Amino acid sequence: MSIDKNKADQVDERPTREVSVTVNGKEITAEIEPRIKLSDFLRYHANLNGVRVGCEHGACGACTVSVNGDLIKSCLMYAVQTDGDEILTVEGLSESEDGSLHPVQEAFHESHALQCGFCTSGFVMSTYDLLTDESNPSREQTKKHLSSNICRCTGYQNIYEAVDRAAEKVSDDESITLEENN
Ligand code: FES
Ligand code: FES
Repeated sequence: MSIDKNKADQVDERPTREVSVTVNGKEITAEIEPRIKLSDFLRYHANLNGVRVGCEHGACGACTVSVNGDLIKSCLMYAVQTDGDEILTVEGLSESEDGSLHPVQEAFHESHALQCGFCTSGFVMSTYDLLTDESNPSREQTKKHLSSNICRCTGYQNIYEAVDRAAEKVSDDESITLEENN
């Protein structure tokens, strides 16, 4: 099979744009094709594999991250749209020097709120966002806020219990400030 050189050259000449973002407090600049989704940019350019890619059309919530403090499904944004923005991923929650987990992550661990774990980083980010706005959410508030995330394994009960446990941890420890990670 012969290769059409003109077509090969066209592929090499795809337009790119520079994008510069702050991810988990670190600046990342890259030259990328405008078609690259934020989820793929975070996974393959920033090596942040906690950003999961499940459905790729906004249904499962596995790719949830925070952009400038807003909860975003990163498969629905192009990376170039976030130029100049501040992004927080699940990795950014636990950047303490001793490697300890964030209280929301601890709560998921202690409540056995995961099985395969594919959905977990999305749920942790959504829970973090919920507790940032509402420190003591009712079960109804929790269900509503997490309704944009899908778990196929757990049946949700332990996830809801993890949210309650995370809320207790945050309210019991005045040194924890959720906004400090934004
Ligand atoms: S991968 Fe983004 S919502 Fe499912
Ligand atoms: S733990 Fe498997 S999808 Fe949620």
